Amino acid sequence: MTDFALQAAALREKLNQYAHEYYVLDAPSVPDAEYDRLFNELQALEAAHPELQSADSPTLRVGGKPLPQFAPVTHVVPMLSIRTETDVSEQGALAFDASVRKELALSESDPAVEYAAELKFDGLAINLRYENGVLVQAATRGDGASGEDVTQNIRTIGQIPLRLIPPFINPQGGKRGGLGGISASAGFPSVLEVRGEVYMRRDDFAALNERQLKAGEKTFVNPRNTAAGAVRQLDPNIAAQRPLSFYGYGLGEVAGWDAQPDTHAGILDALQQFGFPVCDIRAVVSGGAGLAEFHAKVAALRETLPFDIDGVVYKVNSLELQAELGFRTREPRWAVAHKYPAQEALTVVEAIDIQVGRTGSLTPVARLAPVFVGGVTVTNATLHNQDEIDRKDVRVGDTVVVRRAGDVIPEVVSVVLERRPTKDPTDLFSEPLNDRFDILAEYPVCPVCESKTVREPDEARVRCTGGLFCSAQRKEALKHFAGRRMMDIEGLGERYIDELVELDFVHNPADLYRLTLNDFLEMKRRADERDGTVPETVKAGQVTTKWAENLLAAIEASRQPPLARLIFALGIRHVGESTAKTLADYLGALDRIRQAPAALLRLLPDIGATGAVAIADFFAEAHNETVIDALLAAGVVPQGEHAPHPDLRERLNLAAVLAALDIPKLTLTRATQVCGGLERLSQLHEFTLGRLQDCGLPLDIAQSLQAWLAANPATLAQIDQLREQWLVLIPADSAAGRGVLSGKTLVLTGTLPTLSRDEAKALIEAAGGKVAGSVSKKTDFVVAGEAAGSKLDKASELGVQVLDEGALLAMLAK
Ligand code: IVH
Repeated sequence: MTDFALQAAALREKLNQYAHEYYVLDAPSVPDAEYDRLFNELQALEAAHPELQSADSPTLRVGGKPLPQFAPVTHVVPMLSIRTETDVSEQGALAFDASVRKELALSESDPAVEYAAELKFDGLAINLRYENGVLVQAATRGDGASGEDVTQNIRTIGQIPLRLIPPFINPQGGKRGGLGGISASAGFPSVLEVRGEVYMRRDDFAALNERQLKAGEKTFVNPRNTAAGAVRQLDPNIAAQRPLSFYGYGLGEVAGWDAQPDTHAGILDALQQFGFPVCDIRAVVSGGAGLAEFHAKVAALRETLPFDIDGVVYKVNSLELQAELGFRTREPRWAVAHKYPAQEALTVVEAIDIQVGRTGSLTPVARLAPVFVGGVTVTNATLHNQDEIDRKDVRVGDTVVVRRAGDVIPEVVSVVLERRPTKDPTDLFSEPLNDRFDILAEYPVCPVCESKTVREPDEARVRCTGGLFCSAQRKEALKHFAGRRMMDIEGLGERYIDELVELDFVHNPADLYRLTLNDFLEMKRRADERDGTVPETVKAGQVTTKWAENLLAAIEASRQPPLARLIFALGIRHVGESTAKTLADYLGALDRIRQAPAALLRLLPDIGATGAVAIADFFAEAHNETVIDALLAAGVVPQGEHAPHPDLRERLNLAAVLAALDIPKLTLTRATQVCGGLERLSQLHEFTLGRLQDCGLPLDIAQSLQAWLAANPATLAQIDQLREQWLVLIPADSAAGRGVLSGKTLVLTGTLPTLSRDEAKALIEAAGGKVAGSVSKKTDFVVAGEAAGSKLDKASELGVQVLDEGALLAMLAK
């Protein structure tokens, strides 16, 4: 051999060894980079000396030129199929054993027959032909007599050895010879055809589909078809990109194998030693009972396997007995495939119901006409969420494919559209009987607690907004409420909350504050009785109370939480610790937080549109209001309430507020144009189209704004009022100058529309003004409401300026 030939052979040997370690043993001994380096070296060498190219060169694994068509291959030993046992119960295993015993004319007193039991892989059968240890051809099964030459594609499968690992070459050393000497063809059968299944692992399949999706390509239906399609792919470069795996399970033609084992199990062991992947889930068992046991064991494993199987296969272990049993037409008498009960079945969707999860998400569930799938009767199947319903378009009345995978909840796989009921069954083109199923439309309120349901943008799930109130969410809501960073009720953990809820002592957080020592003791007694865990001491009449006293004390101690913690404890969606703190810092009082509309909330730092809507929705839900009122009534008092944050003045500038209302086309820039010179947003209702255009708005935007104003006649006035109420409370600090009313004297008369007399007085005083009882020359303003009397007359007599409530608030807001 030339130096180059030796060098190439050495590289090939190393690379083949590394491939075996990596793909078959799953235990690489060198980093990928080292493999790549040697690979490139070999590729360069072969390119420079094409005569060095050999059939076992790893450089062939990367693909090659597309073929015009596959060449036919005649199988020397036909590739037979196996009979399938249709009885999916353990009887199927016993029946096979009985038939084998009968064929072998064994009597009852004869010993049990030994079987090799293995998995029936769900892929594509392949015959791999090795001559003197080197892979020379790979062929599909075809019709059993001849198949197609798919060698190029099969070489791309890393798990398939291009060259066999030699058997013991140094028996004295007692060690297998690794990949042996370069020239070693000694010890190999001159011809060895290995048969097995090319398949695709479930995770590889999922990853492949993910890649397809990302690349905008079509996704594959199932691992089996994908594996079969890849093997029968004319372009080996495409085949090389499909993650295929292989398991050996038998032999075809064999010649010159001195040490051929005499059992099937022995052959599988030998295949493994030659470097083939052989599945570890296999057993040598005794008699029909042994087969049935294997069948049951695999049934339990089935869903957890990393690949799909199509059942199990039983083979008479002794090759001698196999020969004696022989064949019946195209199937061996010594083997059988034993399947499992179907995992999929057809049935009809009788209704679509909703289950409310512990976090408030509404999960649609199909109520099915009872159907037997995978060994159990199924009457419900999850539909996951609206996107899933839309994707599969499952409607009430549809015939659907239901799948049961292991212990998980059965699932609707697809709809049989041809069987969808129509309004007029005699008319081929009649409309479907039922509409698409829309969770929000069907369940505008939670089926458990009747709180409003919502679906946030970009969210698959519809949710119940009744967090604190909804019994489906009770436990979770309470666990959150009592948590360390929330109300911090020490000792009130998961276990007690579960019991308090399950035994009906607590429905909502407010109930916690009404619990008595007796309640806790009673709860414990009932829980112990229920669980059969009544302690001996209790039976003897001793009841411990310390734990309950501690809990009560902890509850008591939580009655005065900082405002931010109370807000966080309420479990409002999208309100974590920091948002709760923002709300408390900026609005300063629970009442203001409760009243705030989404448009104002989203102007606070780090509160987005979604969060703002979630907060406003939460407080708008009457059930939540009830719970919060109950908490306050039970003596929970948020601490540290204060005036709104000084920054609020700038954040709530009119243009920002207007822009936050999400009026179509009205950006912040446009809102700023409109708000120049405005004192209150509600003034916009008086603007004509022309005037809006004078502000600089293009016609379409002006029209859009007008349309919105017409559709929302009260919104701006409400917002103006809240905004002004908040702003006047902001302390007049250096930045704001002294109060806007400082030095002014005002007189109140009549009933104001929203402010009580006391409130109006407080606001005026907060702004530095004074409230006097009667009108005089020194009076700066008279604030008049409904049924104002003589004071109003006096004002006009003296020429004192009269304000209504709106004007007062506007003035205060400045
Ligand atoms: S033995 C003479 N063993 O099942 C027996 N086949 O009907 C030849 N298969 O398409 C087959 N797993 O690809 C055997 N452990 C296994 C198998 C298996 C899957 C497939 C095989 C063929 C079909 C046989």
